Amino acid sequence: MKQIIESAFYSVYNSSPNLIVRSPGRVNIIGEHTDYNNGFVLPAAIDKAAYIAISLRDDDEIHLFAKDLNEHFSTDIHNIKPIGDISWPNYILGSVAQFQKLGVQIRGFNAVLASDVPMGAGLSSSAAVECATVFAFNQLFNTNIDKVKMVLMAQKAEHEFAGVMCGIMDQFASMMGKKDHVIQLDCQSLEYKYVPFKLEGIKILLLNTNVKHSLASSEYNTRRNECKQAVTWVQEKYNSVQSLRDVSEQMLDELVLPKSKLIDQRSRFVVQEIQRLINGCEDLNNGNLEALGKKMFETHHGLSQMYAVSCKELDFLADFVRHNPAVLGARMMGGGFGGCTINLVYENAIDELIASIQPAYENAMQLPLTYYVASIENGTEII
Ligand code: GLA
Repeated sequence: MKQIIESAFYSVYNSSPNLIVRSPGRVNIIGEHTDYNNGFVLPAAIDKAAYIAISLRDDDEIHLFAKDLNEHFSTDIHNIKPIGDISWPNYILGSVAQFQKLGVQIRGFNAVLASDVPMGAGLSSSAAVECATVFAFNQLFNTNIDKVKMVLMAQKAEHEFAGVMCGIMDQFASMMGKKDHVIQLDCQSLEYKYVPFKLEGIKILLLNTNVKHSLASSEYNTRRNECKQAVTWVQEKYNSVQSLRDVSEQMLDELVLPKSKLIDQRSRFVVQEIQRLINGCEDLNNGNLEALGKKMFETHHGLSQMYAVSCKELDFLADFVRHNPAVLGARMMGGGFGGCTINLVYENAIDELIASIQPAYENAMQLPLTYYVASIENGTEII
């Protein structure tokens, strides 16, 4: 990839880049829609990544080229604002804007972006670009920003330039990932711990529905508001409660269920999921992957039936493997409404599984099913 992006840079700008940064996509084992509720998540960076090659210019111009899309975009440093019609420049510009907000005197630059994180697959291709950009700028302008602060800047880029009020998980996983480890992240305190995840004979198999329903970002923001509503109702009696992290199912019975069955279902899923992750981490520490896998299926059920962020394609894939003894656990992953399921599968059964699920899915959904066996890699780095 390094050579590919270098030669693309050379052919567009007729020079070599000062810097190339790689920042990966992510998976999440369990703990979905918990990050913006101050709960826990268990993500990891994977072997698919975005790459940005950059050189500073002597003037104020910004020139961007997305190699995979063969698209150019130009602006200048006095004119950095979200653009409406194409999305990819927003991830870069949104990240650069964070440096301007800090008062860093930036200069114009030339950049080439390339990525093998599939777009719309729920593997956080946008977070990967944001983290790559923030990391590159920190390096180019010697700003010495610590990594967790860079994670927060990358998240702000998504909020302000892509309009998705995402939690912290994707950017954190991309920036902070560690080879063969998952990150047990407390999204309230941002304390984190690396937990080894090298599984003898078991692989992480991602099955891509190849759909991204247009509801994804609007419903995401709606779920956030539904969770907030539940917290507000609970606070009427328990005023020390700050987020769903502090809420119990008894509190929901008492203060949310009587008011709205829908808000109850949404918030109850989150309260259960926060606990499920805590228990799942114990399973992982005890090497009990069967138990962890069962919880992944429970998570899928909750995301589909209570949180209502699944879709028929994701449900099909999760249901198909549910009784397959070679699949320890499976569930939809990420924000929802399309993208991938994550499956923990015995390595020697993968070919057989693909041979049966691929035609079944394609036949039922009239869509291609693609798949990736993901390995867990390091987070953002200079290459
Ligand atoms: C998206 C968001 C994350 C997280 C997940 C759901 O990936 O970007 O912050 O909320 O959805 O767990």
